[in-house]
Amino acid sequence: MALLMLASAAVFAADKAEVVVRTDQAGSTISRHIYGHFAEHLGNCIYGGIWVGENSPIPNTNGYRNDIIAALKEIKIPNLRWPGGCFADEYHWKDGIGPRNERPKMINTHWGGVVEDNSFGTHEFLNYCELLGTEPYVCGNVGSGTVEEMSKWVEYITFDGESPMANLRRENGRDKPWKVSFWGVGNENWGCGGNMTPEHYSDLYRNYATYCRNYGDNRLLKIAGGANSSDYNWTEVLMRNVGAGQMWGLSLHHYTVPKGWGPGGKGSATQFSEDEYFTTMEKALFMDELITKHAAIMDKYDPRKRVAFCVDEWGAWYDVEPGTNPGFLYQQNTLRDALLCATTMNIFHKHSDRVRMANIAQMVNVLQAIVLTKDDKMVLTPTYHIYNMYKVHQDATNLPIELLSPSYSVGTRNLPALNVSASKDANGVIHVSIVNLDPKKAISTNCSLGQVAAKSVSGQIVTAADLATFNSFEKPNEVVMTDFKGAKYKDGVLSLTIPAKSVITIALK
Ligand code: AHR
Repeated sequence: MALLMLASAAVFAADKAEVVVRTDQAGSTISRHIYGHFAEHLGNCIYGGIWVGENSPIPNTNGYRNDIIAALKEIKIPNLRWPGGCFADEYHWKDGIGPRNERPKMINTHWGGVVEDNSFGTHEFLNYCELLGTEPYVCGNVGSGTVEEMSKWVEYITFDGESPMANLRRENGRDKPWKVSFWGVGNENWGCGGNMTPEHYSDLYRNYATYCRNYGDNRLLKIAGGANSSDYNWTEVLMRNVGAGQMWGLSLHHYTVPKGWGPGGKGSATQFSEDEYFTTMEKALFMDELITKHAAIMDKYDPRKRVAFCVDEWGAWYDVEPGTNPGFLYQQNTLRDALLCATTMNIFHKHSDRVRMANIAQMVNVLQAIVLTKDDKMVLTPTYHIYNMYKVHQDATNLPIELLSPSYSVGTRNLPALNVSASKDANGVIHVSIVNLDPKKAISTNCSLGQVAAKSVSGQIVTAADLATFNSFEKPNEVVMTDFKGAKYKDGVLSLTIPAKSVITIALK
């Protein structure tokens, strides 16, 4: 059956959706790296979040919190971006090596003006990645650094032979180099990373990238600092002036800010009207248009799609929780954020031919965090449970979707209530993920999968009583992932009713 392609624009008012999963059309691989994370020296992301030091009473392994290690391993985090963010373009890596008590201190000018004692540096970060079994994504300093400084950082980390930087690494207790592929050449160089024009940055990129060498069998995958949201000109200039030969990836940063960036506030993380919820989702769905338009520019210069589009900062950005440091960006996380996260991942799946990396901001205690901590307590947020549910899509083959969705309407405004993605993993298991954004109406569907002979059907769901439900340290299990038993599969048709405000993933084996 040929339904109109895709999704987002095609809406009609009813409580039934038509979904076709094109199991006969294998799409691109959904890179596991779109499930990446981001840890900046900001608020309590690093300090108190992932790192407490070896002498802490909080249970730790070599200074890293054990509860967070277990949580991250469970969701198989594929990569971790560090040290920023805006912090990256003020970070001088040599301040963060050697004996911790001798490391110079600095002011974290972007984030609360607090003293950064550099006790978490290159060794602490790269050893953490090894412990987690995740790939490091290091972001170098273009804004206030030098070509020499960045070049020597690469040598320090990755060179195996005799050299001044490799020997310095050995003096600091690490004999063998680390393996580092993902290498960012600056961050937000249109803003906190130097307020540059794209023309100036693209020249600097070429200069810096030239001296980021491949040592031994280490191959750097260099990522150019990309556009701010819909700054399509930035992408145009970078693709024209740098191009596929000199960068592995080009980044994009886009945050969902319900009330915008103005002085009136961004909106509360936990107290919002349905109208504000609607706006949040409308803005989150804008990611589809953004990627489509940036990708069209990239296609013009790179029709073979060699350059990966890396959405290496995204997520919801609300007002900080009352009483917390405004520079620490600490916010709660509700069912609304779970719906936003799953919707965004469905968009990334759809664009998996171009989007090959993404990093939600940020991993612990900052913005749309997957984990929150308070002293020795830790809580998994609703967003965490989406990462857990969606991990089955990592490195699976995307299956195109045809969808006619009922509308979700507020006043005269309409959105497609459903968004859907599907993939087939290496064992032939098909996973279908469906988000119902409508907070009041359940939606039923007979989803067609063609000639798929599945022997078993199982499912998982994330939902809650209210859009604003969240997990607190006192009540950590208000929004969790549970089994969903309401799906049936017969003769190529998957029948289910998706409850209001829920995310479901069905496995067909
Ligand atoms: O994630 C918080 C900040 O948002 C980052 O430091 C910066 O890159 C972006 O503006």
